[in-house]
Amino acid sequence: MVRMGVVASAPAKVILFGEHFVVYGEPSIVLAIDKRAYATAENRNDKLLYLRSLNLNLAGYFENGVFKIEQGDLREAKLKFEPVKLAVEKVLEKYGENVGLNIEINSTVPVAAGLGSSAAVVAAVTTAVSALLNVKMSKEDIFRITYEAEKIVHGTPSGIDPAIATFGGTLLFQMDTGFKPLDAKMDIPLIVGDTGVERSTRVQVEKVRHISERYPQVVEPIMQAGREIVLRAIEALKQNDLEILGELMNINHALLYGVGVSDESLEWLINAARKAGALGAKLTGAGGGGCMIALAKNEKLEQVLEAIQRAGGRPFIARKTDEGVKVERT
Ligand code: MEV
Repeated sequence: MVRMGVVASAPAKVILFGEHFVVYGEPSIVLAIDKRAYATAENRNDKLLYLRSLNLNLAGYFENGVFKIEQGDLREAKLKFEPVKLAVEKVLEKYGENVGLNIEINSTVPVAAGLGSSAAVVAAVTTAVSALLNVKMSKEDIFRITYEAEKIVHGTPSGIDPAIATFGGTLLFQMDTGFKPLDAKMDIPLIVGDTGVERSTRVQVEKVRHISERYPQVVEPIMQAGREIVLRAIEALKQNDLEILGELMNINHALLYGVGVSDESLEWLINAARKAGALGAKLTGAGGGGCMIALAKNEKLEQVLEAIQRAGGRPFIARKTDEGVKVERT
């Protein structure tokens, strides 16, 4: 389908500390990692919006707002393509354009796993389309459009995923104050372990809402502890202290377990990583399956990676990246 065209990419993320509690206004720390989603945008001669995802084997088009499937499952395609369509429409609307487009998505980010795959895809598509139209969108605009599209997927997202997909780097993120780049020059050697259990962020966020409504006095101090963990972790990042970061990850995981967002598949991988010598391990993102992360000294990385694999996970070593969304080829 798409041969030449404009290509843009955006990074996946791992939340080091503070997922879920961030939805309630607490701070969180998030890193962009070296796995990216790529989007190619190309003009069409008609007014269709044609979408294809190479990694999900899905393809179809929107004609006057109605979706027609060409490849894969209709329900899945609608679910995955709806936020992309919304983002494209917002870009076209912003610049007063009414053109047909081919969009091809190729993502290396595991899907529905807590790594921000949907935000990375939408940020990349938004950027590719604006570059194709030859307009210069600010990163703030890309963030805002990605955030609007994320609302369809996640219900009440904090904005953490669109922020990191757009800006990259290491961010301190809080809903009322937004994001602030963190001074994190140190190497943060992480292994990400994918449980292979797909889950919905929306459902996990609702779980926490339910438990915090039932037990407000119990959950409030848990969230406060989450805030203290983030504040302590900022110091540890400044002091290059991996041991403390690892311990804080273990405590943060215990809090997330407490509010009900861990599951058996995550516990297996987390225990395996700790036994193999990880300095700390926790779920990352929404939980309920998805991914865990383990922090390890460089000399222990392979050992921890193998232990996660033996426990049934799909592990990879993740390096942080400063590169947010970018145009790869015009
Ligand atoms: C999902 O990556 C992180 C959550 O905190 C939800 C959000 O912040 O939107 C679970």
